Amino acid sequence: MKKVWQAAWLLKAITFIGLTTLSDDDTSSNVQRLCYKAKYTIREALLKSLNMCDKGLMTTAVYVYPTWVCDAVKALKAPGCTIPVASMPTGFPAGQTHLKTVLEEIILAVENGVTEIDVVINRTLVQTDQREALCDEICQFHKACGESHLKVILATGELGFLTHVYKASMIAMMAGSDFIKISTGKETVNATFPVAIVMLRAIRDFFWKTGNKVGFKPAGGIRSDKDSLACLSLVKEELGDEWLMPELFRIGASTLVSDIKRQIYHHVTGR
Ligand SMILES: *[C@@H]1O[C@H](CO)[C@@H](O)[C@H](O)[C@H]1NC(C)=O
Ligand SMILES: *[C@@H]1O[C@H](CO)[C@@H](O)[C@H](O)[C@H]1NC(C)=O
Repeated sequence: MKKVWQAAWLLKAITFIGLTTLSDDDTSSNVQRLCYKAKYTIREALLKSLNMCDKGLMTTAVYVYPTWVCDAVKALKAPGCTIPVASMPTGFPAGQTHLKTVLEEIILAVENGVTEIDVVINRTLVQTDQREALCDEICQFHKACGESHLKVILATGELGFLTHVYKASMIAMMAGSDFIKISTGKETVNATFPVAIVMLRAIRDFFWKTGNKVGFKPAGGIRSDKDSLACLSLVKEELGDEWLMPELFRIGASTLVSDIKRQIYHHVTGR
């Protein structure tokens, strides 16, 4: 029984994970391969034995650098394929790029068909408590995104205190962010449980105050299937089942997909 339960949760976890290629040497064929993997994450034979063939089980997004957006959009164009292309404009992960450049790149990426933008904040604004400036920065990201979804990366490993994490979360949500994301995965401190809980409580407080549901994305250093299940249950505990959908919950851990695939293979074949 326990094993069946676990396989079901692992399959669910797949639908919250995006596949990423953010390498210095990305090429068009790299990107196409990634898009193929995103569409056919779990082999059909395995899905058949789990009775999941018709459930449209796919990973939830494809992340590429802005240069490769057009290739990814093209590669994902297929009947029935709803996987969005996501991108992070210049400034990822350091947040040291001029705001104007970042905004221009967001606009260009959106024109090219990106429907999700992950953008880092200027950490100094949080560390020095410049709330209005932070709010203004994120409002401008939001405006540049237009209809595309904005995910604000708080890079919490560099914010110092948990009170900073809470404040930055609130400001990001007030400024129109659709998601708040823990980390770029490149900081020396990545996703931690205390930070995750503070952000989840901020999301809950924001929902109680405004009625708006904002999404949560733990990322950085989530490597095992156990980590991903822990994230799932944390969100379930703090926010409830209604948050367990790709519009409100993502796990930033593309390396995890192969681990989960292995586990599912093992579950089905016993090998
Ligand atoms: C980040 O904020 C600080 C403090 O206001 C500012 O001095 C710095 O120029 C900002 N960095 C960028 C890249 O805009
Ligand atoms: C944070 O995540 C990155 C990428 O997964 C990894 O290289 C780094 O070692 C992690 N840091 C910690 C402290 O786990």
